[in-house]
Amino acid sequence: MVLAVIPHHCEILENGMTLESKKINIAVLYGGCSAEYEVSLLSAAAVIKNLDKNKFTIIPIGIDKTGCCFINELQDLYVNDEIVLKTKKAKCLQNLAELNQLTQRPDVIFPVLHGTLGEDGTIQGLFDLLGLAYVGADVIGSAIGMDKDVAKRLAAAAEIAVVPFLSINSDLWMSKKDLLIQDIEQHIAYPLFVKPANVGSSLGITKVKKSNELIAAIELAFTYSTKILVEKALEVREIEIAILENLQSGAEPLVSCVGEIIPSHEFYSYEAKYLDPKGAELIIPAILQQGQLQQLKDLAIKIFNCLVCSGMARIDFFIEKQSQKIYFNELNTIPGFTKISMYPKLWEASGLSYQQLLTSLIELAIARYHRLAELKRS
Ligand SMILES: Nc1ncnc2c1ncn2[C@@H]1O[C@H](COP(=O)(O)OP(=O)(O)O)[C@@H](O)[C@H]1O
Ligand SMILES: [Mg+2]
Repeated sequence: MVLAVIPHHCEILENGMTLESKKINIAVLYGGCSAEYEVSLLSAAAVIKNLDKNKFTIIPIGIDKTGCCFINELQDLYVNDEIVLKTKKAKCLQNLAELNQLTQRPDVIFPVLHGTLGEDGTIQGLFDLLGLAYVGADVIGSAIGMDKDVAKRLAAAAEIAVVPFLSINSDLWMSKKDLLIQDIEQHIAYPLFVKPANVGSSLGITKVKKSNELIAAIELAFTYSTKILVEKALEVREIEIAILENLQSGAEPLVSCVGEIIPSHEFYSYEAKYLDPKGAELIIPAILQQGQLQQLKDLAIKIFNCLVCSGMARIDFFIEKQSQKIYFNELNTIPGFTKISMYPKLWEASGLSYQQLLTSLIELAIARYHRLAELKRS
């Protein structure tokens, strides 16, 4: 068996060719074995709808919650002119490793997968092994972005402020509950947030106001992840910025205008994000002092580089209301892509349409593929 397919000058665009000269096959992956499966279907429907059909041939590939993969026909996904995604059983792949043996071989993979096994570097590693170009961060950037503990520790080491937190793994929790509770109450204090270290969409997150709620919150978070964070709850404004890698190699990444989320719930919970249509207001551009806007943009670029990210990211900050201090909260390597999601909306407000944004992401994937192909392997 061949383990890895080393990228070489291949079927996709040769260096210097433009997207106009060849129609590119894009496999859009959606669904996945993560708690954010439903969110992925919504994001991918918007991506498929907005991809430029003159430049790209779309191969929709659904992954169901058990990990089975299905190739769908694009025309089967339309319901009354809208794309509706289910991981239908059109044509079954034995596993994703078959991707590069398809008759219509994908030139670029667009993983529109959120969370575990989609956004955490695992599937990106598979694409590397298969020698496939793909959109977004590579293995290391994805893995760092997905792990809130590692991301915050790297940011803190670069002197970027993060909210005080403790990370706890499940083994330690099982053996030292009482000591850990003491530690939390002494060093973090109430109110506090308990969150899984590597899940998104606010799943498994609880705001804990008093001591008798703490253990249940920790146990809930451990049902999503083997590592959790306990973090001081601050009174904050929630700020988000979109970053796009620069196609011009060596140039700083591109930074969007700044957006603000104002949740109508106690915090920006799963319900506020996806279930309650009035769960949050998105303000673009955020109303902030000029100095603060520039500071946030500079920080966003610094964080993108410091967390070894590539392709794209949405970087989320808190501004503590009382002190006006800026904290880095998290970096999302595959942010929400629905038409009302912050990432595409921030770019639209910064002059880059949703369609142009998708084209740029694919160009970046191809450029990285060529960069890797030029590396010496022996
Ligand atoms: N330390 C904190 N102080 C205040 N609010 C917080 C804090 N941590 C999380 N939150 C609230 O919880 C939401 C989700 O937390 P976050 O860390 O962004 O996880 P996720 O990756 O699931 O979005 C935030 O958008 C915010 O509303
Ligand atoms: Mg968040």
